[in-house]
Amino acid sequence: MCGIVGYVGERSSIEVLLGGLRRLEYRGYDSAGVAIVTPGNGLVSHKRSGKLGILSDDLGHNPLAEGHTGIAHTRWATHGGPTDENAHPHLGDGGKLALIHNGIIENFHELKQELLAEGEEFLSQTDSEVAALMVGRSYREHGNLTKAMQEVVSRLEGAFTLLVVHQDQPGVVVGARRNSPLVVGLGEGENFLGSDVAAFVAYTKKAMALGQDQIVTLRSTEVSVITFDGEPVEAAPFDIDWDASAADKGGWSSFMAKEISEEPEAVANTLRGRLGDDGLVALPELDALIGDGSAINRIIFVACGTASYASMVGLYAIEKWSGIPVGVELSHEFRYREPAIDEHTLVVSVSQSGETMDTLMAVRYAAERGAKTLSICNTQGATIPRESGAALYTHAGPEVAVASTKAFLAQVVACYLLGMYLGQARGLLSTKESAALADDLHKLPGQLEEMVKTGPRIQELARWMADTRSVLYLGRHVGYPIALEGALKLKELAYIHAEGFAAGELKHGPIALIEPGQIVFVIVPSPRDPMSLHSKVVSNIQEIRARGARVIALAEQGDAAVLPFADEVIPIPLTSTFMEPLLAVVPLHIFGMELAGAKGLDIDQPRNLAKSVTVE
Ligand code: M6R
Repeated sequence: MCGIVGYVGERSSIEVLLGGLRRLEYRGYDSAGVAIVTPGNGLVSHKRSGKLGILSDDLGHNPLAEGHTGIAHTRWATHGGPTDENAHPHLGDGGKLALIHNGIIENFHELKQELLAEGEEFLSQTDSEVAALMVGRSYREHGNLTKAMQEVVSRLEGAFTLLVVHQDQPGVVVGARRNSPLVVGLGEGENFLGSDVAAFVAYTKKAMALGQDQIVTLRSTEVSVITFDGEPVEAAPFDIDWDASAADKGGWSSFMAKEISEEPEAVANTLRGRLGDDGLVALPELDALIGDGSAINRIIFVACGTASYASMVGLYAIEKWSGIPVGVELSHEFRYREPAIDEHTLVVSVSQSGETMDTLMAVRYAAERGAKTLSICNTQGATIPRESGAALYTHAGPEVAVASTKAFLAQVVACYLLGMYLGQARGLLSTKESAALADDLHKLPGQLEEMVKTGPRIQELARWMADTRSVLYLGRHVGYPIALEGALKLKELAYIHAEGFAAGELKHGPIALIEPGQIVFVIVPSPRDPMSLHSKVVSNIQEIRARGARVIALAEQGDAAVLPFADEVIPIPLTSTFMEPLLAVVPLHIFGMELAGAKGLDIDQPRNLAKSVTVE
């Protein structure tokens, strides 16, 4: 969950490293630190608990000596609290070596006992310091940093990305990875390392992902990769299609505000080149894996958090259009129940980061049991798409705010494309239905622009509700996952109790929560909805209103049936059943952000969270 940056080149490394950390801070923000190999002052380092700004301020007042080789880290604490001592880098070889770590070294306790018995002293409570001391000892023995890393990783268990520098090796950074991400940025006379490409996209658009159990030795003009067993590896570079400015806040008050404003574009980019006006879907990246779809008799989605809600929306569409039974499972539950899967099962992982450890493990579990694996992912070069049988990239652009917004919409759209692709391959989705869906999907970006404009009204509502202690969300069919998504946003951003329910479940228990003043958001299906769910949800609204609830309805423009029973109606442009959730979610994203803002909370970096959960 931590962010890692490494640099070797001509530039002042502190600038590159702090810039990289700023772009990766969403990965963890308990503490931060840097280490630089300088020409005259050996290894210099500084680290501080708290957000990156504290470290930057310190370095502004007391700059470190200049150097052109360095590493930097922003932390999400696992072992040991967020203190200065536990911040990274950790030192080895008597302070001549610095190491940063992302992940968890599961056997650190026994290794620590060994090191203590041999007289080593520990300055922190972290598992990471064990690795720093071990690499230091090994380097002392044979004076080769790559070999020292190779020797140490063979003794570590768990998940780790490690970067090391040594003052006797100016111009060299060595990295290793197992189950945690590490990407190489390839420059001209300079090279970079990062937990993801955001760390260095300002300097180069060429990257190379490091594979599982590999070690990279980085110099300004050379990058060499070997396996943990010492075998040389030829890794293929790829082009980064993110714009450098996309990972900057621009003039926006928060990344989240910027990313909500980009929701229409995220949808347009995910559709681009994949859906003709006639409704025919072209996804050549899936052809080899899926063929005509006849070999697939079951689809299981694995995902966490917001990505699991996008999968739930996808479930309704894909099952309807393709006729294949679809299930959605939380990644961390999936492999522990020993699911019955085989080569006819398509396991679809959905992940913005492509690094969520639980989802990665679910994908590996599925692949080991012979299932076909497909990754819906937003991040090029990430581990999950690379380890999957095929990848369907969403093109939402970098998402920096911890709360996922535009990636959610892009994920739903990718699920719809998959559903149409399967429906067409299996001959179940007619030309007429496909063309109608294409028409609706192509209209979405424009309609989403309208939804983004609800911002000022939602801001007023949020200010009015700043003292609210509980908010409920109700939805039905594809509106149900939207209720869950709205509630998750409020929990993680505004730290208040929020729950989403399937509206049909109300009378089976949740209605007992309704008391005078309880705020309830209701996602109302269109009155034109062929399943006639509209009248049922309007009845639910009357039931909760009768018990004193204050109802905020997200309802189709001109839906007169809702008006008498709602305290507030947020209008949704006319569209079809499957497009409505994409439109309804926008005000809920805005509401979560604005309520956090009204409470004076940190919108982009909510407490205790990190953007990408790379430990189990
Ligand atoms: O990177 P992923 O899409 O795999 O992340 C999954 C969840 O951790 C993520 O959606 C999380 O729930 C967000 N903080 C929600 O806003």
